[in-house]
Amino acid sequence: MPSTIDQRRKQFEEALSNVRDVDDLSAVRDQYLGRKSGAIPALLKQMGALSPDARREFGQAVNELKGYVEAALERLSGELEERAEKARLERERLDITLPGLRPRFGHLHPITHMRQRIEAIFVAMGYTIEGGPEVETSFYNFDALNTPPEHPSREMQDTFYLSPDLLLRTHTSPVQIRAMQRRRPPLRIIAPGRVFRRDTPDPTHNPMFFQVEGLTVDRHIHMGHLRGTLQEFVRRLFGAELRTRFRPSFFPFVEPGGEVDYQCFVCLGDGCRVCKSSGWIELGGCGMVHPRVLQGVGIDPEEFTGFAFGLGIDRLTALIYEIDDIRLLFENDIRFLEQFGV
Ligand code: DAH
Repeated sequence: MPSTIDQRRKQFEEALSNVRDVDDLSAVRDQYLGRKSGAIPALLKQMGALSPDARREFGQAVNELKGYVEAALERLSGELEERAEKARLERERLDITLPGLRPRFGHLHPITHMRQRIEAIFVAMGYTIEGGPEVETSFYNFDALNTPPEHPSREMQDTFYLSPDLLLRTHTSPVQIRAMQRRRPPLRIIAPGRVFRRDTPDPTHNPMFFQVEGLTVDRHIHMGHLRGTLQEFVRRLFGAELRTRFRPSFFPFVEPGGEVDYQCFVCLGDGCRVCKSSGWIELGGCGMVHPRVLQGVGIDPEEFTGFAFGLGIDRLTALIYEIDDIRLLFENDIRFLEQFGV
């Protein structure tokens, strides 16, 4: 009989050595201690058939085996738990000395950035920002701006028409009219926005581009205010005393009309690649608001005068960032735009 017990013990030890996890362990426990079919209860059942002496001896041996099995199972169970806990801690381990992951920040499109810089300068000078629709009527885009029906800018090949009377605005100047209709002078507004022209794309032309319009209307406004304002704008934009110059030019909605240039910010007037050797760079069109434009919105030109200007935002952006093809600004290729993070 003891040999049966020894055999069982060996089998148990063997089974125990194959235990890898708690499931294995509980299978072994069932196999040896399980009430119904466990090996040890089975041994105890055999005792009834033995003589009293043999029974005692056998009983003792079985109990000893039982104690041994229970203790061994207990110990291994503790070990398995410890191992599981260790593995869990290892998995959850956090090395706080590792360098952090840097989030990828986006940034503003260079044109947006330039627009905001321009806005900030004019807002600091007391201007408010106005907007208007990109789909305009020919009244706002042309008639109200004193542009006669035979004017070349009205031609089909220059303007995107949606219907005989609706078009994509060709400039931000119609916002002048909308602002003057909405509000009475004194008036100081700028209007940045998209404009559209049927130009064939090339390095300096794109059918959609950005302008910023400016308008001041008040009593006693004269050319000196226009010149001083644009001079101050250039000084603040470039942070340098770049001179400006005004050349006579024609726009139907201003009289007199002009074009304003500023001294090249690269060569300061000596002549270089950026200013095409002239020393000057064109900023935009400007002039004194035509009396007929004021009359059209019910402002008395005898009482009020005003100046207006229209600047190209993309051209400024391209120059400042040294981009020699403005179409690149509209392709939205992230590899290109990434270079202008600010
Ligand atoms: N609207 C003109 C253009 O797109 C630019 C312009 C010229 C605007 C003179 C003005 C101005 O306000 O006074 O070419």
